[in-house]
Amino acid sequence: LLMERELDVMNDKSLLRRQIHSWKENKESVAYVPTMGSLHEGHISLVRLALSHADRVVVSIFINPTQFDRREDFKTYPSSLDLDISKLSDIPVDILFAPNIETIYPFGAEDATVISEPSLTKKLCGKYRPGHFDGVASVLIRFFNIIQPDIAVFGQKDYQQILVVKRLVKDINLPIKILSGPIQREVDGLAMSSRNQFLSDRERLIAPEFYKFLKNIVTQIKENNRNFYELEKESLRELQAKGFKPEYVKVRHADNLQEPNNEDRNLVLIAAVKLGKVRLIDNICFSL
Ligand code: PAF
Repeated sequence: LLMERELDVMNDKSLLRRQIHSWKENKESVAYVPTMGSLHEGHISLVRLALSHADRVVVSIFINPTQFDRREDFKTYPSSLDLDISKLSDIPVDILFAPNIETIYPFGAEDATVISEPSLTKKLCGKYRPGHFDGVASVLIRFFNIIQPDIAVFGQKDYQQILVVKRLVKDINLPIKILSGPIQREVDGLAMSSRNQFLSDRERLIAPEFYKFLKNIVTQIKENNRNFYELEKESLRELQAKGFKPEYVKVRHADNLQEPNNEDRNLVLIAAVKLGKVRLIDNICFSL
């Protein structure tokens, strides 16, 4: 089955549903990988993870207007559909679903019903990008309803997003298993992101320092420095000295992003910075 597939590019939700329905009648399982396009190795690794867990794989490309807190960011978000199609044609994906805005938001993006998780979305990135996670949840619920996958796959670079999606699925009883794939990095350690292409040459040289810095903090914590508050505060100063504009650097409980107590062993160091106009996020999960 794997080698026989040919990528089918669709933008019509009825046709897509009909195809998925026929797979389900054949008892074939369906994994779904949502993206906003500009595909890089990080996305491709998620597609491979999907392929290893289901009979059929659907990828979507949709630059979702409701998750951008700044209009400018939406307008300039990179788009490269032809290149994305050729990248997906090299691996055995069944369908690329690339709908237009009206297909996803029949009443318009401004008048869309909003799904709002009340707790996780208020922290960390949620503070700096108001409404962002509501937009993510609101678009995903639509794609989940159209595709009705057995599995959906997300990248760990967007750590907070995964927790929001897991909570959403549990809270409203969607029968979808959420899988996550590890962060893919450039050789110098920079986490892959569609936004990296906007870094200037100079910024691109500085960018890997972000991950190096986070690794160093995790080492310090493992060497028994558990004064998280001081580490976080000091981090902001040091990142600034390296040329970043830090938004936050936090040590949190890996399951719920709450502030850890002394007994918590599963932690995540999670951070967001700006470098010039580009916003970078990264995280490292670790256990003590
Ligand atoms: O992670 C992303 O690229 C987006 O937030 C997603 C999950 C495709 C929803 O638009």
